[in-house]
Amino acid sequence: MAFKNIVVTGAQGMLGQELVPYLTAQGYRVTPLSSKQLNLLEDSHAMQHKLTLAEPDVIIHAAAYTNVDGAEREPELAMAVNKDGTRNLVLAAQELGATLMYISTDYVFDGLKTDGPYQPVDRPNPVNTYGLSKYYGELMVSELMEQYYVVRTSWLYGIYKKNFVQWVIESARAGNEIRVATDWLGTPTWTGNLCAAIETLMNSGQFGIHHAADQGVVSRFEQAQVICQSMGLSGDHIRPITLAELDLPANRPYFSALDCPSLSVPSWETGLNAYLTQYKALTRDPSQLR
Ligand SMILES: NC(=O)c1ccc[n+]([C@@H]2O[C@H](COP(=O)([O-])OP(=O)(O)OC[C@H]3O[C@@H](n4cnc5c(N)ncnc54)[C@H](OP(=O)(O)O)[C@@H]3O)[C@@H](O)[C@H]2O)c1
Repeated sequence: MAFKNIVVTGAQGMLGQELVPYLTAQGYRVTPLSSKQLNLLEDSHAMQHKLTLAEPDVIIHAAAYTNVDGAEREPELAMAVNKDGTRNLVLAAQELGATLMYISTDYVFDGLKTDGPYQPVDRPNPVNTYGLSKYYGELMVSELMEQYYVVRTSWLYGIYKKNFVQWVIESARAGNEIRVATDWLGTPTWTGNLCAAIETLMNSGQFGIHHAADQGVVSRFEQAQVICQSMGLSGDHIRPITLAELDLPANRPYFSALDCPSLSVPSWETGLNAYLTQYKALTRDPSQLR
């Protein structure tokens, strides 16, 4: 094992809660930091002070302002957390000699690519404030550090947060009609698969920008139909509409599938099945949720 001490920011988030036990089970010494323990609105000295005790070899920076529509209402906060907070964490990491892994997003892209999934070298051009703030976060890392990882992922879902898959299932069971876009394409990624990808990249020594998502391209509408089929539910409640008809406060990239050349990644359907196994076990016995 190349590293021993790992700090995870955003440890109480959807990814953080999956990542901490995963890395611990792999034998790393993991220090999980929630927003109460390390807030990205603090200055770099305060962050450094809080990180010192953990003696991190690697800081996996999973904390972020993640409310895509909310970022249009409060852009200053989104920027303060995702851009300035990341900059201050970079400065603290440098003082401690730690490598930083910044978890980023498919939303750094504009969705206009027509010749296949986005490559790590493709030019970001965000179409909403959240995407812009995350892209600025990337720049803080890549411009200030030499040894860093930027890991972009997409359409994340996992058991630790209400998510699209759960919404589709629960709406089907309740008989509630849902409106789902047919022209919004990307790659759903299960947090369990992302944890394995993060560990692989962290030990690769291949510093720079990477993509880590499940494989395949699907519309939100097709994804919803496959979810229902996999659960033995009727998909009659899923009404096909366009992304424009959803009239969301923040623009979304119409196409944001990520190609992952540095990884061997499973299909999104494999990720979905693994998640559904977890989900079924939890809905039978919620006490299994750590
Ligand atoms: N979810 C997706 O579809 C998706 C897709 C692509 C990339 N990503 C990226 O993946 C990473 C993990 O996302 P996620 O889905 O796990 O998000 P999440 O569930 O919203 O978790 C984000 C965490 O960040 C913390 N946080 C927010 N503001 C903070 C602050 N000022 N200081 C410290 N911590 C703060 C939150 O803490 P509180 O709960 O206490 O506020 C929360 O625990 C993020 O970097 C996100 O940009 C997510």
